Amino acid sequence: MKIAITGKGGVGKTTIAGALARLYNDDGYKVLAVDADPDANLGSAIAGVSKVQREIVPISQMKKLIEERTGAKSGTVGSFFKINPKVDDLPERLGIELLGIKLLVLGGIEKGGSGCICPESTLLRSLIRNLLVERNEVVIMDMEAGIEHLGRATAESVDTLLIVVEPGLRSIETAKSIKKLAYDIGIGKMFLVINKAKGGESDHIKKKIEQEIPNLPIIGWISESQNVHLADMEGESPYDLDEEFVKEIGLLKKELEKRS
Ligand SMILES: Nc1ncnc2c1ncn2[C@@H]1O[C@H](COP(=O)(O)OP(=O)(O)OP(=O)(O)O)[C@@H](O)[C@H]1O
Ligand SMILES: [Mg+2]
Repeated sequence: MKIAITGKGGVGKTTIAGALARLYNDDGYKVLAVDADPDANLGSAIAGVSKVQREIVPISQMKKLIEERTGAKSGTVGSFFKINPKVDDLPERLGIELLGIKLLVLGGIEKGGSGCICPESTLLRSLIRNLLVERNEVVIMDMEAGIEHLGRATAESVDTLLIVVEPGLRSIETAKSIKKLAYDIGIGKMFLVINKAKGGESDHIKKKIEQEIPNLPIIGWISESQNVHLADMEGESPYDLDEEFVKEIGLLKKELEKRS
């Protein structure tokens, strides 16, 4: 299972990605968690701030590695380099163990223009392709808002895209444009997850969202939770602090399994 999680900034992508990683791990799957957000914080969502090394160097900043694998210095544009660098050993070498979950922090790429073809982006793209195609773990990828950076080849190998929204039209507008783009680049399955939902009006909200974005099944409903928020304040993983939240993530996981 290769799940990518996206949505507007701040909707709860990282929170949900971290909890799904924990849940699959607890259920005995091998889990590879991929932090593809340049502003990386998936590690602390998985295990809490104190369990994560202070300074994780993202792969996109490993200059020596990038040069060694691509044959060109990172940051150079227009030089010759390998477009198929060796990457299959990198998850084992660079993955950080967190409570049994393997975490890879990809990091951001300074973009000279959209779709920059530079050594570091080539390495990351090859790596993502390898993670999604060659490996048999559950891969959970936390992304920055939007999916513009997901190339076509990568997108084809994501088998499920979860788009997180909160009850509110702004995140729904973002979801609409993600849906269109994801459709254009050929992502297989796409589902909506509603996060930070307030109790009570669930039917009304679901109906409203379905009207706004037809043909995108809602497969998750995660309540707004004081404990999830507190966990963040305390630098803990919400997975360890909020049973109700874990239950709701469990229901989301069930729905995912039903549809895969
Ligand atoms: N169900 C929830 N109930 C209460 N607070 C939540 C819930 N889900 C997420 N939050 C809080 O919302 C904030 C944003 O969450 P998170 O970092 O997971 O979002 P994100 O989509 O990954 O953000 P970014 O776009 O910055 O990466 C955090 O403070 C988090 O604790
Ligand atoms: Mg995030």
